Amino acid sequence: MRSFAPVLALLCLVGCNTSPTYHQDIRPIIEGRCANCHKTGGVAPFVLDSYAAAKTMGPAIADSTQKGRMPPWLATGNDVGGYLRDPSLTAEQKDLIKKWVEGGMPEGDAKKPGAALPDLGGGLAKVDLTLKMPEAYVPQVLPDDYRCFVLRWPMTTPTYVTGVNGVPGNAKIVHHVALYLVDGEAAQYPPMWDAEDATPGYQCFGGPFGSRPQQFPVKLLTAWLPGYQGQTFPRGGGVLIPPGSTVVLQMHYSSLEAAPTADQTAMEFSLSPTVTKQLAYQPFLKFDWVAGQMEIPPNKNEVIHEHRADPRPNFGLLGSPLNTTNGFTLEAVMFHMHTLGTRGELWLHKADKSKKKILEIPRWDFHWQQEYQLAEPVRFEPGDELRVKCVFDNSKAVSKLTNWGENSDEEMCVANILSSE
Ligand code: HEC
Repeated sequence: MRSFAPVLALLCLVGCNTSPTYHQDIRPIIEGRCANCHKTGGVAPFVLDSYAAAKTMGPAIADSTQKGRMPPWLATGNDVGGYLRDPSLTAEQKDLIKKWVEGGMPEGDAKKPGAALPDLGGGLAKVDLTLKMPEAYVPQVLPDDYRCFVLRWPMTTPTYVTGVNGVPGNAKIVHHVALYLVDGEAAQYPPMWDAEDATPGYQCFGGPFGSRPQQFPVKLLTAWLPGYQGQTFPRGGGVLIPPGSTVVLQMHYSSLEAAPTADQTAMEFSLSPTVTKQLAYQPFLKFDWVAGQMEIPPNKNEVIHEHRADPRPNFGLLGSPLNTTNGFTLEAVMFHMHTLGTRGELWLHKADKSKKKILEIPRWDFHWQQEYQLAEPVRFEPGDELRVKCVFDNSKAVSKLTNWGENSDEEMCVANILSSE
């Protein structure tokens, strides 16, 4: 046996003592991809700011990263060059965490921390306008309260929004935020609904109009998740806000991790009088669904609704300000289903019969909706088609026949496409 010892020692120099350590391998991942939320006062329920904290949570961290629950980013790769600011961990990074936990979570040398991960960027280059909820609000509906607040748009000339960021008043309970542009005739309604309700804001779930009789095309401005830095719209684009518009802030409060206490969230905007291209969210969906033909029968764990078409005729009907006669460019996508949704896909079918995956969400989670900006703009040419696919699981304990609707016990299937001409 003795004769093997030097050989083993030599091999070990390169191979045996390879358990990753906290300071060299794990800390850069946590600081670069987790600490923005898992920090004191952050949105996550525990902090990951030290070796001790990471060690305590080690097995949970390995499990949630292996299964892709953390960091919360639902999209997996597409066929068009990926997404901007994609924080998901690489297979190697996930593997390092797993090996570190299996190796007993050694600390390593605090004086020689591993190199920081590349910064994902993001954030707003400048803040030109901040609009705050007019009053503080304490969530009344537990554990999930969906509430809309009216932000009067103060600009008196047509102005482009080129980036949006949220500043949560109470990060412990703000789960996600959607911002809607309500312009034209519709702009008068949200302030009325707000006034009818004695507490600040008004109840809403699916969008700024909820299931009220006044139905206008819903114009999404952006969606924002606490913990993520604000988004600047891609490639110098901006969304035009006409004077007199109402901006509706839809707050989703969750009291699962913290008691419901007052919140007064603000939104920051980057503005510009001119942009390289005008952007607008154009919803792609099937009109028959909205008319009640999206049945999701009870006790079925895989109900698929799919729609393939040239979306352009419907964009106009849904209030798009863009002229798409010669096609359009897909810049970002936001998928929308409610809580029965399990999977979502958006595909581009080219006229030459080839197809490209634009967005895939293999494990839909209503609580982590966000905008996925495409790293490369994708052109939709006349003759092409888009296909949206939604999969629903209606096998839960209280399962009932479900259909399209704005309410939380109804469903939707929409690919909101941030587009330019
Ligand atoms: C955008 C904010 C955000 C980021 C980034 C984030 N987390 Fe979380 N994390 C949360 C929130 C909020 C929860 C509470 C559960 C929930 O709301 O889904 C949570 C829960 C967890 C949990 C317990 C629940 C579970 O799913 O396992 C673990 C473990 C965890 N995070 C680890 C991580 C790690 C490791 C990273 C980085 C690789 C990370 N998180 C990045 C916000 C975040």
